[in-house]
Amino acid sequence: MRLPLPDPDRPPPGPFRHSFWRSPLRGPWLTSLLGFALLIAIPLIAITGFLSNDAYNPRLGGNSVGRMLGPLDFYLFQWPTHPSWLYAFTQGVHVTIGLAATPILLAKLWSVIPRLFEWPPLRSPAHALERLSLAFLVGGALFEFATGILDIQYAYLFKFFFTNAHYYGAWVFSAAFVFHAAIKFATMRSALSVRRGLEPLRDNLAHTRPEPQQTPASDLIALTPAAPSMSRRALLGTVGAGSLFLFVQGLGDSLGGPLRVLSLLGPRDRFGSGANGFNVNRTAAAAQITAQEVGPGWRLELSSQGRSMSISRAQLLAMPQHTYDLPIACVEGWSSTQRWSGVRVRDLSRLMGHEGGMIATATSLERNGVFSAATLAENEVDDERTLLALRVNGAELSLDHGFPARVIGPALPGVHCTKWVSKVKFSEAPA
Ligand code: HEM
Repeated sequence: MRLPLPDPDRPPPGPFRHSFWRSPLRGPWLTSLLGFALLIAIPLIAITGFLSNDAYNPRLGGNSVGRMLGPLDFYLFQWPTHPSWLYAFTQGVHVTIGLAATPILLAKLWSVIPRLFEWPPLRSPAHALERLSLAFLVGGALFEFATGILDIQYAYLFKFFFTNAHYYGAWVFSAAFVFHAAIKFATMRSALSVRRGLEPLRDNLAHTRPEPQQTPASDLIALTPAAPSMSRRALLGTVGAGSLFLFVQGLGDSLGGPLRVLSLLGPRDRFGSGANGFNVNRTAAAAQITAQEVGPGWRLELSSQGRSMSISRAQLLAMPQHTYDLPIACVEGWSSTQRWSGVRVRDLSRLMGHEGGMIATATSLERNGVFSAATLAENEVDDERTLLALRVNGAELSLDHGFPARVIGPALPGVHCTKWVSKVKFSEAPA
């Protein structure tokens, strides 16, 4: 029995019919202008995202958080420790531009939605390929933006591990984006030049007309346009205002300090006052740290190549203490610069008889966290500013900030600033 194929000339009623889409604002110019904005924003977001992965030094220890490294990790390089605000900057850009681009992405998808209901859905193998790339492009964009925003709001509605899923999604989306940008660039340029750039923004509502049809005809331009309810200027103004509002949210969070008040939607700014009155991602309660574990009996276990030693907090405090202003830069994009004091990690390495060239795995008392251990690369261990911090802003670390001791260092992703440290293991840096 032969399956009845859909009649290519008779689209089913509803969105598959061109006449269904009646907005007079759609057209190649509007889509190209929004596309141009994304052409600037998306590469910035993608590059800073892949740098975030690199900052994990995923080749070391368990830093790849369960992800098997492979050919996609071709670009990895040793993440530097200078400047100390490097990760705060790159991840701040990632999240802030990601947020600001969200309204533009949604407006772009709105402007091309008739294309998603093209009829017939498949015309030829080449057309099928393009449709498939659009599925990866739109699906990848929605996945990346949705998971990213949910993650920074700590709304873990998904059952998968965000970091790795977002990473693989990034490759799918980035590849589809590069393909799309390559095949659409000429169309974008001509659509913008034909209408002389931003000229159409001069039109107020009374002068708002559908874009002039062109050859070949664009299926984005409505066949039977409805009367405009807003001008293109008002539409892009609304998108721009939304983008600016979200940009300020991200900026407030990533720059921190007095600017944090701007981050009205930011989930994290109410942490009391005083020396320890700044952002906490994971509280001691959430990490199930008990008072007994961090009490007077607490010891730091140092080990290296079969040798080990156990140090009390008093002994650590008796070692040379160093103080640096360093940002705690969270992978969620916020950062907060504080004055940390403690023992240099490299001095602990020297205690174990090493003069550089070692990596250090700091393990936390926290047992159930994905990031309960992190490995510092040799350049991070050797940097004099990388500390096992015991105090902050001149006071004892609070329990939520990792008392009895936590790692802090220049340009480190927050997840590598291990709190409630119980062990530090030194090993030779891989060749
Ligand atoms: C509003 C949009 C976005 C937000 C809020 C966002 C948020 C985040 C966050 C919080 C992380 C850190 C994950 C972690 O270390 O646990 C991250 C990492 C990353 N993001 Fe995004 N992201 C967004 C969009 C994108 C897009 C569009 C791409 C790709 C083009 C992308 C690519 C990446 C990559 C490659 C990583 C590194 C993942 C890893 O360390 O394995 N992100 N993003």
